[in-house]
Amino acid sequence: MFSKAKKRVLVKFSGEAMAGDGGFGIDSTILRFIAKEIQLLVETGIEVGIVIGGGNIIRGVTASAGGIIRRTSGDYMGMLATVINAVAMQEALEHIGLDVRVQSALEIKEICESYIYRKAIRHLEKGRVVIFAAGTGNPFMTTDTAAVLRAVEIGAEVIVKATKVDGIYTKDPHKFKDAVKLDTINYEDALKEHIRVMDDTAIALARDNQLPIIVCNMFKENNLVDILAKDTGSYSIVK
Ligand code: GTP
Repeated sequence: MFSKAKKRVLVKFSGEAMAGDGGFGIDSTILRFIAKEIQLLVETGIEVGIVIGGGNIIRGVTASAGGIIRRTSGDYMGMLATVINAVAMQEALEHIGLDVRVQSALEIKEICESYIYRKAIRHLEKGRVVIFAAGTGNPFMTTDTAAVLRAVEIGAEVIVKATKVDGIYTKDPHKFKDAVKLDTINYEDALKEHIRVMDDTAIALARDNQLPIIVCNMFKENNLVDILAKDTGSYSIVK
């Protein structure tokens, strides 16, 4: 489906996936697994940006649901959660010898660099993995939207939404046996169908910048490198 191996990509992981079966916090086995998958990408010469959600620690919308915490505050709490995940992932990647920088949309300079897109690009050019934390720095925006925004800014050729399913289905494949996997779907159809793998704001931003969105299973070994470097592996693409 691709004409050549990718040069620069952005991979988006959900926070929930980091939690494993426990549903909360950070599972070290998953952290190690993801780090290894990223290492395989880097070893092929692909420049890698990463965005991780924060849902394993807090979800902005849920936090505000009880009426005690306002949505805006809930969303900022969610952004802080993504910083925790980013630092954990940085540690895991450095543990296996990768060079990593975390850049945050909110200034937390004791913990990590602030987001500066020119600096991010320099890091990528030097073979460093860059983890973009704190979403877009704004409430009412998802980390998927942040991921597309960063992907566009750094000139990524593709964004990968690494999920628990191996692509986009007509229905929830975990619930419906007759769900059919769509190998390719265009942006307009993805928006019309409200595909649940990414929110509409993120898809519209990808569409406006002709950024292809790959949806794949993050838990399948070698899947990222197979898809991005070898054009094998199982995925769906929105383009
Ligand atoms: P070069 O410009 O290529 O040398 O990049 P570099 O990232 O190695 O150099 P720099 O001196 O900017 O950073 C050295 C280390 O300090 C890296 O691990 C950065 O992530 C970290 N660092 C840089 N700026 C900040 C900051 O504002 N806050 C925090 N917490 N760390 C920072």
